[in-house]
Amino acid sequence: MTPQASSPPGLDEVLAAVDSALRDGRRRLAEAAATPGSFAAAQREVLGKRSALASVNALLGGLDPDGRRQAGAALGAARKELEEEANRLEAVVAEAERRQRVAAERLDLTEMAIGPKTPPLSHSGRGVGRLHLVTQTRDELEDTFVAMGFAVAEGPEAETDWYNFEALNMPPAHPARGMWDTLYLRLGEPGTVLLRTHTSPVQIHLLEAGELPIYAVMPGRCYRRDTPDARHLPVFHQIEGLVVDRGITFGDLAGVIEAFTTSFFGPAIHSRLRPSYFPFTEPSAEFEVTCPICRGEGCRTCSGSGWIELGGCGMVDPNVFSAVGIDPERYSGFAFGFGIDRLAQVRAELSDMRALIDNDIRFLRQF
Ligand code: PHE
Repeated sequence: MTPQASSPPGLDEVLAAVDSALRDGRRRLAEAAATPGSFAAAQREVLGKRSALASVNALLGGLDPDGRRQAGAALGAARKELEEEANRLEAVVAEAERRQRVAAERLDLTEMAIGPKTPPLSHSGRGVGRLHLVTQTRDELEDTFVAMGFAVAEGPEAETDWYNFEALNMPPAHPARGMWDTLYLRLGEPGTVLLRTHTSPVQIHLLEAGELPIYAVMPGRCYRRDTPDARHLPVFHQIEGLVVDRGITFGDLAGVIEAFTTSFFGPAIHSRLRPSYFPFTEPSAEFEVTCPICRGEGCRTCSGSGWIELGGCGMVDPNVFSAVGIDPERYSGFAFGFGIDRLAQVRAELSDMRALIDNDIRFLRQF
């Protein structure tokens, strides 16, 4: 108990003490709310066991019953007001802290501004970011096909044997599986889950979805167990095309390939098809375009032939339709697929594809 000088304080003094505890408490809480990190301590100081309110409470015992009732009521009202004020400010403080934390942790990915082709130095003194040459090429390919009326679809990079091989007319142990050096994943039964070796499995996903007709291109990343060299990357990109409708012919395939070639490369570049083999197309062809470097004259890039091989294509094999439950008597279609990195290499005249993945900024910022 606080030592008292002489007689215990009377009612007026106790009421005055309640009043000043209330006023001090309000001020203390308001100050603390404006000072980061100090609110919890102030709350304890104003309302806790060692608070001014608590010491006034101890004085009540010295009053007569009537005074005790009056002072007790005043004290209760003061405590209630301070508690309510503390609760209100606590919410305000918590909200302010939350905002501050969000602001501090903010990571604005759009700040990686995609700049113009030849970016100036930004005000930070660092170069402005840009899209990778392969991404730019992919975007342009998508735009070209979208303008021709195609939709863009995507599929998973980890596939089962069914999508990458079996549904594409390659039953287990089919020799054509050897055309793709496959990376298998340690998932499920050994040899059943793999990294797709081409974008053709997306054909199966679209066909299984069964919304006919289909006019779609499917760009994406592919994987093969290849050693990187001037013309191969073990992780690369393809774009697949699939058209399925009534009465689609090989003439439609050749026409679409030619229309794509001239609209993507310009009117001087044309296409030609040469017989080839793929298990999921029949007949199959390789499609070649006029060498965009020498424009058909013959140069080192095209080994003097004037033509560059871009990819494979053909009419969807009836066995593929049957595998996904589509009647090959009612529908026909064609498919094509080619490498996006290869295309970027040819267009940018890169002698070595590995430059695309070296991440040398001096190389990449040229495009
Ligand atoms: N998927 C084949 C490859 O990767 C290319 C292709 C696609 C061939 C579509 C025919 C039809 O080599």
